[in-house]
Amino acid sequence: MSKFIAKPAHSLSGQLKVPGDKSISHRSIMLGSLSKGTTKVTGFLEGEDALSTLKAFQAMGVKIEREGDNVTIHGVGINGLKKPSEPLDLGNSGTSIRLMSGILAAQAFDCELIGDESLSKRPMGRVINPLTEMGALIDSNDGKPPLRIKGGQQLKGIHYNLPVASAQVKSCVLLAGLYAQGDTCVTEPAPTRDHTERMLKGLGYDVRVNDNQMCLTGGGELTATEIQVPSDISSSAFFMVAAVIAPQADVTLTGVNVNPTRTGIIDILKLMGANLTLSNEREIGGELLADIRIQSSELKGIHIPESLVPLAIDEFPAVFIAASCAQGETVLTGAKELRVKESDRIQVMADGLSILGIKNEVLKDGIKIQGGVFQKPTQIIESHHDHRISMSFAIASLRCKHTIEINGVGNVMTSFPNFVELANSAGMNIAEV
Ligand code: S3P
Repeated sequence: MSKFIAKPAHSLSGQLKVPGDKSISHRSIMLGSLSKGTTKVTGFLEGEDALSTLKAFQAMGVKIEREGDNVTIHGVGINGLKKPSEPLDLGNSGTSIRLMSGILAAQAFDCELIGDESLSKRPMGRVINPLTEMGALIDSNDGKPPLRIKGGQQLKGIHYNLPVASAQVKSCVLLAGLYAQGDTCVTEPAPTRDHTERMLKGLGYDVRVNDNQMCLTGGGELTATEIQVPSDISSSAFFMVAAVIAPQADVTLTGVNVNPTRTGIIDILKLMGANLTLSNEREIGGELLADIRIQSSELKGIHIPESLVPLAIDEFPAVFIAASCAQGETVLTGAKELRVKESDRIQVMADGLSILGIKNEVLKDGIKIQGGVFQKPTQIIESHHDHRISMSFAIASLRCKHTIEINGVGNVMTSFPNFVELANSAGMNIAEV
């Protein structure tokens, strides 16, 4: 079991380019595979999660070549997937299993979707329910993986009101809708990341977006195009927080995806008083990019507006580190989804913060954190094999007086394979052993 040993560090600087966006990388493989023609992807995330999706589509007969972060997908068209000879192992990746179940529910063949210990505990009823309403036949382990999907079902379009603000569920239903008879519409209770809608449009599919409702009509085609994957704002978040809490910092993150359904982290840090500016804003392939400069900042505790929760859903472990370094109390509510991520991110972060001497109170749907000083001398943190927990505690080393050990960091490879290298190049002192 690998761990991080993060020694205290004080300054952070440089121009950093973090790897490609995980959500967009997954979708590039799925939609590129279902397109007619050859899709060339640049900036693809070479993390284990996105590679799980890539291997799954290869196992369904799609020719996909990869050289580093350049990927060429020889699309087979919307009806060209072949039955895989084995269960598709999606590792740690919730996005793979939830989005792919929408595509696979509509295929002519049976298949089984499996994952690792963490994925096998995550709720899948949220995708099984709407897909069943559409006519899919899916057997599960009491609402959890493995998912056994029966092929040969003709799906019908539905109008689905999302019970939770989830881009994975929205995307799953829309992808099933590509194959369904008639119109499929999804209404979301709050805006969630819209990469699926943007990429479908980029591949020539008519997606009709009206306020909080997205509709499409089944039976169309996707046409291959080039996809440039921008840097992942969720990975960038660790460096944003690292820079704001570091006693001395001036960092610029280049080419970061600033799609407005993802920028909650920027809004939250600014509300806390972060010295953070965007420049060079541009649009590439239907996605917005910017360079983000962050300098050391005096942070204050805030009550995080609930409207920002879905827009920063993956960034809360890092936000909790910022809150620990702020003056006063930070309160998060309306975030019970955090309890069903790769770990229970409220409880696991609370446990780690308490070990570091930060006062906090766990709420059923959030947490209260009292800003303070990381001071306890024995500091061994359990990440519960959650990549974002591991990276969050690693950056806390910028405000620690003692070395921190973080156990179970192997899954950092799922989303940010060169995290340690980049962190150390900017001034941190993290060893992986
Ligand atoms: C994702 C959506 C979010 C996010 C996940 C990636 C996506 O999940 O947490 O890391 O790519 O659609 P939910 O839809 O469950 O909120």
